[in-house]
Amino acid sequence: MKKIIIIDGGPRRGMNTAQMLQHFAEGAQSVSDDVEVKTVRLYDMDFKGCMSCMVCKIKGKASNICKFKDALTPVLEEIAQADGLVLGSPIYFGDVTGKMRIFLERLAFPWLSYNDYSMTAPKPMPVVLMETMNGTPDRNNSQGYGSMEYCIARALGEPEHLIAYNTYQVKDYSRFELAGFSEEAKRQYRDAHWQEDLQKAFDAGRRMAEKILG
Ligand SMILES: Cc1cc2nc3c(=O)[nH]c(=O)nc-3n(C[C@H](O)[C@H](O)[C@H](O)COP(=O)(O)O)c2cc1C
Repeated sequence: MKKIIIIDGGPRRGMNTAQMLQHFAEGAQSVSDDVEVKTVRLYDMDFKGCMSCMVCKIKGKASNICKFKDALTPVLEEIAQADGLVLGSPIYFGDVTGKMRIFLERLAFPWLSYNDYSMTAPKPMPVVLMETMNGTPDRNNSQGYGSMEYCIARALGEPEHLIAYNTYQVKDYSRFELAGFSEEAKRQYRDAHWQEDLQKAFDAGRRMAEKILG
């Protein structure tokens, strides 16, 4: 049995990020019953970012899995054993959400050696970095996973990107102070692209499952 872990770094159930991740999961599961997909919703969990305790760097006992104990501990241990990893986040102020960022601190700081600046994960694996945002391909402020992408690429392997642009932020624009957006333009974009974005997520799930099954 192979295992893919999906980390949902968005707060909203059933909205854009969650739907993209759900389609990824369905794509992976459509390949074989030998692929287990587990989704972890970070906003349902109470955990801290890196506490700078430096326990992962103690001489003779250095660890590439975070040693700070809280609700994130079993998730980090599970990722270390997994065969594929998917990270998904809405873009907030040009970055992934704060919750995704503190998760990544805990994931990546133990990979970093301050002896030789190498980055070593417990095991390399295929990674997909997924983002959803208001921005469009031509006009967006997203730095995506930013400096964390460099750590992920070095420790786990070059990630694949999956991006859903110009998402519907609310179901009914008439109820909110959102005059900066044209609902008509949003609807047209969604009608032209959303199903295709979900299909891309499904296909990416299939590809990851096929890859890890060899
Ligand atoms: C606090 C906040 C900040 C946001 N900042 C940006 C931004 O900087 N750029 C952008 O393109 N979209 C931004 N958005 C829009 C979301 O990224 C977009 O609606 C996303 O698809 C929401 O994902 P969800 O439906 O899974 O919650 C922001 C939304 C919120 C709530």
